Amino acid sequence: MLNIVVCVSGGGTNLQAIIDGVEKGTIRNTRIIGVISNNAGAYALERAKKAGIPAFSISPKNFESREAFNRAFLDQLEALEPDLIVLAGFLVILPEKMIEVYRDRIINIHPSLIPSFCGTGYYGLKVHEAALARGVKVTGATVHYVDEGTDTGKIILQKAVEVLEGDTPELLQRRVMEQAEWIILPKAIDQIAGAKG
Ligand code: GRF
Repeated sequence: MLNIVVCVSGGGTNLQAIIDGVEKGTIRNTRIIGVISNNAGAYALERAKKAGIPAFSISPKNFESREAFNRAFLDQLEALEPDLIVLAGFLVILPEKMIEVYRDRIINIHPSLIPSFCGTGYYGLKVHEAALARGVKVTGATVHYVDEGTDTGKIILQKAVEVLEGDTPELLQRRVMEQAEWIILPKAIDQIAGAKG
């Protein structure tokens, strides 16, 4: 059994795809043992609660220092003992110690075909704004391992999505989520769970 913790900051549609995949059995041999958000108001936390998954809100804002937040975040992860940490729209810089402790056990979904439109400053709608500004005809999403860099870890899966005439950043973001993110993130987890046996 692969025990996973999902870290979120927003609406949680990627989290929902994972919840649904586990329930339907398309993600095999996996248990979501916790959801952690830096944003107490994240709808993703509601999705976790509805699914009966322990949900935790740990925000840097609630700590007097970054070190105190990092410690609380790591302590919560340690208490849950995850085999894999899934970053699903998690907009927090990870403590370096976390990357050391969970090396090759943290994955992230990025809404472009890395190495395009990634790295510092490329997140959420900004990624799609940059893709449209460059005029690419194809974009997509990438699941990759997390290392010390930003969107630089080993690529696990990618899926291409067509850019359409008249696309706005919002329309493109939605298509990339529906046609790529919600497919390859569950698929990557299923592959890792299968490898764990
Ligand atoms: C998505 O755009 C995803 O590509 C990015 O953050 C957003 C998360 O959305 N990593 P949601 O919270 O999963 O709906």
